[in-house]
Amino acid sequence: MTKRQHLEAINTPVFSTISEAAKELSLDSYVIGGFVRDYLLQRGTPKDIDIVAIGSGIELAKLVAKKLPGSSEVSIFKNFGTAMIKFQDIEIEFVGARKESYHRESRKPVVENGSLQDDQKRRDFTINALAISLNSKDFGQLLDPFDGIGDLKRQLIRTPLDPSITYSDDPLRMMRAIRFATQLNFIIHPESLQAIADNKVRIKIISNERIVDELHKILASPKPSIGFSLLHSTGLLPFILPELVGLEGIEEIEGQRHKDNFWHTLEVVDNIAEHTDNVWLRWAALLHDIGKAPTKKFDKKIGWTFHGHEFVGSKMIYKLFKRLRLPLNEKMKYVQKMVLMSSRPIVLSEDFVTDSAVRRLIFEAGEHVEDLMTLCEADITTKNPKKQKRYRNNFKIVRQKIEEVEERDHIRNFQPPISGEEIMKTFNLRPSKEIGMIKEAIKEAILEGEIPNEYNAAYSLMLQKGKEMGLHLN
Ligand code: CTP
Repeated sequence: MTKRQHLEAINTPVFSTISEAAKELSLDSYVIGGFVRDYLLQRGTPKDIDIVAIGSGIELAKLVAKKLPGSSEVSIFKNFGTAMIKFQDIEIEFVGARKESYHRESRKPVVENGSLQDDQKRRDFTINALAISLNSKDFGQLLDPFDGIGDLKRQLIRTPLDPSITYSDDPLRMMRAIRFATQLNFIIHPESLQAIADNKVRIKIISNERIVDELHKILASPKPSIGFSLLHSTGLLPFILPELVGLEGIEEIEGQRHKDNFWHTLEVVDNIAEHTDNVWLRWAALLHDIGKAPTKKFDKKIGWTFHGHEFVGSKMIYKLFKRLRLPLNEKMKYVQKMVLMSSRPIVLSEDFVTDSAVRRLIFEAGEHVEDLMTLCEADITTKNPKKQKRYRNNFKIVRQKIEEVEERDHIRNFQPPISGEEIMKTFNLRPSKEIGMIKEAIKEAILEGEIPNEYNAAYSLMLQKGKEMGLHLN
């Protein structure tokens, strides 16, 4: 890495302004952390900038805000000794270098000032401790006392200090190590991995919101299984998603085995990550089999069964979302629905695919029918090439049929062609169960393909059903 490249990283008015302001205050300043890491990894333009000042970060932020046209007011977090300004869509965070550990969440005021190196060694990973000088004497120079550059090249997550110190300073870093390993496809240094395993219980002191932030990032990565298998091997998973732990293992009775549903799930998540960036669909893939642990049974005649696991799994989602502080809104309902319906297209694809079965699928999945298909296709993890080919082919047919049927019958956002109002008027009825029965009969006839999804056909059927029920026309 040449010095010129580092100049390129900071060749913007933001950095020259910070440099100027720091000079006026007679203090040194550096850009550090994710900005430098992502620049060196060429991961696109990083959004947030972390500045460390050898002196008061707050004073520096105040002067920068004055000097930088278009920047926001300074937000000061006195307890943490940090300050933040927004400039365009970038957040610039300022902190004074500290001797003591990096306590973002600590309520204790930061007291002891330190040198750049003091600050760097208290950061989480060597690749996050890289700093570039903003001082006129060596503007653009990279300061890398822990060989972060070497670790970037070796693709290694390593702590600047003894890992047990780094992780006990902030146990969230155990999740961060796994998250960075997943996002960047890096290896975690063996000593670090051991320290995570040793300190796993300490994850309990971290709030679920912060844990979920990391889980989201793991799930949003190109190959989420890297993260989940690390959560598993370090022993963190039982503290975070015990529902998944219950899926692990293969049992054998009378020579009959079932697949290991934990490792199967991870394959499904990787498969789906290739086809969608929708993180909620990825959540659905992660949770689609959680009902298999509580429903597992062995039957002498049919072998292993997981009857109703989709229903049981979907019922487990609320508690899981609540515990992890995931949103209990339409996102959760979407995941519940995907889990509940996760076997439907499979059943379809094993059989001869009828139009009415496809209509029912579209009716129930509604606008999410394509997502459901994506989930089911990701669920094919059989290693038997013949079976694999047959399933894929059948799903292709189901997809084609969905398109055909939808084009003809418009079931996706199904609105009953005859309203309850109209039924009431026609037969001079008050609100009563007969109205529901007629509506249901019309819906069923449409889904079965007995009548088209049209007003006139539905009207005739309404008259016929009314007659059969002994109702009189108004
Ligand atoms: N940091 C740390 N320990 C933490 C969190 C953050 O040492 N628990 C330090 C790291 O030096 C990190 C910097 O603070 O690079 C900024 O943290 P943050 O913005 O959370 O992460 P980034 O590294 O910028 O990465 P990302 O934006 O992907 O989260």
